[in-house]
Amino acid sequence: MANIVQPDADGVRQVVDALRRGDIVGLPTETVYGLAGSITSDAALRKIFAVKGRPADHPLIVHIARIEEMDSLVDDVPPSARLLAESCWPGPLTIIVRASRQLSRVVTGGRDTVAVRFPAHLVAQTVIQQLGSPVAAPSANRFGHVSPTTAQHVVADLGSSIEWVLDGGPCAIGVESTIVDCTSDEPQILRPGSITSDDIANILASERITVATQITGPSRASGMLERHYAPAATLVLHEPGVEFDAAGAPVLDCATDPIRAAHGLYAQLRTYDEAGHPVVHVVLPRAQGIGFALRDRLTKAASSA
Ligand code: TXA
Ligand code: MG
Repeated sequence: MANIVQPDADGVRQVVDALRRGDIVGLPTETVYGLAGSITSDAALRKIFAVKGRPADHPLIVHIARIEEMDSLVDDVPPSARLLAESCWPGPLTIIVRASRQLSRVVTGGRDTVAVRFPAHLVAQTVIQQLGSPVAAPSANRFGHVSPTTAQHVVADLGSSIEWVLDGGPCAIGVESTIVDCTSDEPQILRPGSITSDDIANILASERITVATQITGPSRASGMLERHYAPAATLVLHEPGVEFDAAGAPVLDCATDPIRAAHGLYAQLRTYDEAGHPVVHVVLPRAQGIGFALRDRLTKAASSA
């Protein structure tokens, strides 16, 4: 069973040693917990796919701890990627660029593009710095399940398959990073997050670059539109301000305070499942700010596809 360790000098050393040996570990970030492995070990990268039960063609995000580390992973950094990195990193933004030939194709799921993110969580930064190389990290849940936002969630999902989880406390944001594909002249937002499409558009507008929010073409990642983030309970979604009868089932209000709702969303869905509720009603937030990301995750969680 996995050990939850505190992120003091000893805990960090244990986790860094494990990564050096080619093991994979649970790592806190400001969005959700990641299942991390060194990008220099194909064996570690393969373990990530095996432990999650994730298809090999679903690419992983590479996490760095200095902006300049992006240069060693990619062929060429386009102006849009440079601008977004300088404006938003460290922070909950993942940028897709063309991968360098040296980068393992295990991490990119066989693609010639790579997703790069510089997390804001100090514990994640410390681990990457001490390891001396980036780590690949998908969310530390079993494939298709709700992402973990505490060390205990990681243990509940993957505890029998990994040895170490660093405890960085509950994740501040609670939904996964915004993903922007910068491989075309007009960057595309592939996944909404707490950095909003308006934020991205405003940053890029300073260099007269426009952004597309329609996900089209080859940048669309496998798995992107499938049922994801799914709890066992059936979620019934309601627009804000529309009355409904929950017939005694729990009601999750995401409209009144969407930032707080995002922070607690995945923990709340797990709690409903533990209590065995077959149905949960959800009041959606309005489609603005982090409300976009919440609506995206809730719609996928509610889909029966
Ligand atoms: O907030 C986050 O991004 C968290 C934390 C741990 O950093 N990570 C995360 O990873 O959400 P994951 O693997 O659960 O989601 C990564 C998404 C997937 O939908 C994947 O298909 C997409 O990023 N992705 C990764 N590389 C890609 C690429 N080269 N092209 C298109 N999509 C890519
Ligand atoms: Mg995930």
